[in-house]
Amino acid sequence: MTLKQITLAVNDYCNNKCDVMCQIYKNAPIVKTGASEFTGMLRRQEFRDLQEVAITGGEPFMNVEHLNGVIEGMIEALPNLSWVFINTNGTYPERVGKFIEKFAGKVPKLTISISLEGTPEVHNKQRGVRSFELVMSTIDVVSKSGRKNVTGSLSTTITLYNADVSELDYVRCVAEKNGFAHTFRMASKSGTYYHNENTGKDEQIPPKKVEEILAFIAQHYSEDPFQAMQTRYLRTGQTGLKCTAGSDFAFVQADGKIYPCIFSTRVIGGKAEGVTTSVITDLGKQEPCPCCTECAVYPMMNYGPSENRQQRQEALIQLR
Ligand SMILES: C[S@@+](CC[C@H](N)C(=O)[O-])C[C@H]1O[C@@H](n2cnc3c(N)ncnc32)[C@H](O)[C@@H]1O
Ligand code: SF4
Ligand code: SF4
Repeated sequence: MTLKQITLAVNDYCNNKCDVMCQIYKNAPIVKTGASEFTGMLRRQEFRDLQEVAITGGEPFMNVEHLNGVIEGMIEALPNLSWVFINTNGTYPERVGKFIEKFAGKVPKLTISISLEGTPEVHNKQRGVRSFELVMSTIDVVSKSGRKNVTGSLSTTITLYNADVSELDYVRCVAEKNGFAHTFRMASKSGTYYHNENTGKDEQIPPKKVEEILAFIAQHYSEDPFQAMQTRYLRTGQTGLKCTAGSDFAFVQADGKIYPCIFSTRVIGGKAEGVTTSVITDLGKQEPCPCCTECAVYPMMNYGPSENRQQRQEALIQLR
């Protein structure tokens, strides 16, 4: 078994307070896994074929020295690395600029994904801090990087605060103006990742709002495979994809524990011993399957069995 994609949390603390959807901000600012430990893990055989690494946190740019160390080690350890994707809350424009200067020439493709939740006041409410202006500066830094292999993306999480197509459309326009991609998903529960399993903040988005979002997807995102899958999921509760969590892709938490995906409570290895459970025959027993987030759906479609490519095509045709 060799993994093709991982999502790796370099830390699990941050400087926003997105209480409505994520409780990571409550964690103490402690580095739980040193850069050299992550590098040692990535040198193992089961990571040899990794093509994509999505760096996340917490907020990765809060500790630049640690982040740089992890990225340097990753580049050194992974011979097939073709895409580094990094999530940020956009509050460190200068650090993001320096990061691009440092690493754009060292990886084939680098994407900076910046969280933007809607218009200024809605964004600030959802993020629990007044970060809108800094986010706009970070977008500006990325769009003006002048590097051909650096792309920008905006990421929106839909909660009761911003579940309105006017908010999504605002972010869509900011993305379009800057030549960025835009992706969005419904807020979900994950004890392993967002630590929001017991918050009680699970009010449902009203069905009318969901219908409006579905119409918005059909109007503006009809060529987006993730949104095609999200449409299916919101309509039927299923994506129709065969899940290969733990074999094609995995989630590495900041403490070095390895999980099949961000939703799973099943530990399949760790930073010292690598992946120890290579064949999982009972996915769904310790995971709230099915799910629909980009970090699971894209690897399933890109690296899963060929029937998943077929499903992807059918979902796009249904959406069009
Ligand atoms: C956990 S954050 C880590 C990176 C960075 N701190 C940020 O906010 O972009 C990664 C992504 O997860 C999203 N997210 C947070 N809580 C979520 C939830 N409950 N369900 C789905 N996505 C969520 C964020 O909006 C962000 O785009
Ligand atoms: S979504 Fe990102 S910025 Fe917000 S609390 Fe979670 S980790 Fe922090
Ligand atoms: S929650 Fe289930 S369907 Fe979703 S990625 Fe994890 S194992 Fe796969």
